[in-house]
Amino acid sequence: MTTFGIIGAGNIGRQVARVALAQGNEVVIANSRGPETLADLIEELGPKARAATAEEAAAAADVAVVAVPLKAYRDVPVDPLAGKIVLDANNYYWERDGHIEALDRGEETTSGLLQKHLPTSQVVKAFNHIVAATITTDGSPAGTANRRALATASDYPEAVEFVTAFYDAAGFDTVSAGPLSESWRVERDRPAYVVRQNAEELRANLALAQRVI
Ligand SMILES: NC(=O)c1ccc[n+]([C@@H]2O[C@H](COP(=O)([O-])OP(=O)(O)OC[C@H]3O[C@@H](n4cnc5c(N)ncnc54)[C@H](OP(=O)(O)O)[C@@H]3O)[C@@H](O)[C@H]2O)c1
Repeated sequence: MTTFGIIGAGNIGRQVARVALAQGNEVVIANSRGPETLADLIEELGPKARAATAEEAAAAADVAVVAVPLKAYRDVPVDPLAGKIVLDANNYYWERDGHIEALDRGEETTSGLLQKHLPTSQVVKAFNHIVAATITTDGSPAGTANRRALATASDYPEAVEFVTAFYDAAGFDTVSAGPLSESWRVERDRPAYVVRQNAEELRANLALAQRVI
């Protein structure tokens, strides 16, 4: 059993919580307004879930998930996540997040920014290119023809291994885009972004991506 510390309790955080709980794990989940505002969610999620502050969720985590608007990534607690695998679902919407020049210029990746913020954590891209609601509806057993595939990327092979097993249990094949420096291939507006694709199609879409759009 793994404790998932989930920072961000919106569309994505809740869905990843449901998937983690369905796999027999525990969840500690946080938002920006405080644990008392998550009572309804915790009632729905059940006894293996509890609400906490982001600091507490990070401290309790065996594995963490970051699912906040990108503009808030610098609020993610650093010290309690040292040495831990951190799944990063964030995307860059300048309309929501404000402009981040290094991203606008194609010099950084969204997950690369989080990795720099969490220098001793093992950041791994996960669930960023699937509409949240479909995480619990689009999965299918391993070996199903045309099974949906999701991308990951990390500088840490053990983090990729973790996400691959987690995706598989959730009903998805995995395609790695490589290190975080290549993770722009699955960011917003690239061919692989938020379309249903199997592993072969996802590999092709990652290869088709252009850095400057
Ligand atoms: N929605 C999707 O289908 C989808 C799919 C893939 C990836 N993503 C990406 O995943 C991220 C989350 O998206 P979402 O749709 O889940 O957003 P959302 O529904 O707006 O939820 C965001 C959550 O983050 C929390 N939060 C904001 N600032 C925080 C902070 N400083 N500390 C702790 N928690 C904070 C919010 O708490 P409060 O409500 O208390 O402010 C809320 O619980 C975004 O980067 C998004 O682009 C979304």
